[in-house]
Amino acid sequence: MNILGIETSCDETALCVLQISDGQTPKIIAEEISSQIKLHELYGGVVPELASREHLKNLPLMYDSILKSLAGSESEIDCIAVTQGPGLKGCLLMGLCFAKGLSLGKRIPLIGVNHIEGHALAPMLDNPELRFPYIALIVSGGHTELHIVRAVGQYELLARTIDDAAGEAFDKSAHLLGYGYPGGAALAAAADAFGPSSFKLPLVMRESAGFSFSGLKTAISLLVKRNAKEIEKSSSVKDDLASAIQSAIVNALVFKLSQVVDSTGIKEVVITGGVAANRALRLAVSQIPGVRVFVPTNGHCTDNAAMIAYAGGLRYVKNLSTPLNADVKARWPLEECVLT
Ligand code: KG4
Ligand code: ZN
Repeated sequence: MNILGIETSCDETALCVLQISDGQTPKIIAEEISSQIKLHELYGGVVPELASREHLKNLPLMYDSILKSLAGSESEIDCIAVTQGPGLKGCLLMGLCFAKGLSLGKRIPLIGVNHIEGHALAPMLDNPELRFPYIALIVSGGHTELHIVRAVGQYELLARTIDDAAGEAFDKSAHLLGYGYPGGAALAAAADAFGPSSFKLPLVMRESAGFSFSGLKTAISLLVKRNAKEIEKSSSVKDDLASAIQSAIVNALVFKLSQVVDSTGIKEVVITGGVAANRALRLAVSQIPGVRVFVPTNGHCTDNAAMIAYAGGLRYVKNLSTPLNADVKARWPLEECVLT
């Protein structure tokens, strides 16, 4: 079965044709992604209106290109999976409208997919040995969540951020230190190259049930202010601070994850979402006693259409589809996608 996946929830337009068959590792037939980082860099953050217009421009061209790479076998697409939420409303609308048009034109089912479900299942694309149940640490620019994934549609929320996401904590710190936009990966690279830091940041999130990055954000901003002159004079002080920041964020994530591994007894851990590309995080998670870590390839950690096609395909084989009058869901907690 071939599924066309469409992802437009934020600043990446992505399309993918994925083949899934019983008991087989999913196979990517064609995949295209267009990142808008250059466009939003000017403004230091995603401008929703510009992002939507970019999706509007990209979608038909990228679809045409996918068709060309399929060499005329487009009729083999069995269903359309599209991100229905959560995300930026205007961006989601572009993807959903495009998907509805294709679904009508081709007379094939439409499956609205939860973007977080896509991230939670993405490691299955690249890790054939991964089995349910597992703990998913979903860490991206917009989300920081811990779930038990028992099966497709069987999710149990363990913790979620009440303010910033881990990716935002990386990006805002990167902005303060001048590592560019979005900055998370650049800060991480500088931190890795520097090694252990001489600066100390507080250990956060020890007591609270959920994630919260606001206390750490304040501590980081004070530390950066206090060392502003030294940062200007020496790039090594800047990298030293980057290292302290990375350790503090990773520490907070791993502390919560370890607690959950202990309380659930589930040792299979998945790290997914853009921040899963972080090497220090992967290393720290792999050092939790007894844990087996699974991570998607870097291209499937960040937003992509393969994960949407996969989650949609798994719902399609359960005879689930989305009506053509469906609206987007800018806010859509994963718990609402639990299948009973
Ligand atoms: O999943 P994603 O592509 O988009 C969202 O759904 O948000 O995640 C993007 C986030 C950004 O905050 C980016 O800075 C962060 O992932 N990121 C990293 C690294 N690579 C990407 N953060 C820390 N270390 C990295 N190596
Ligand atoms: Zn995402």
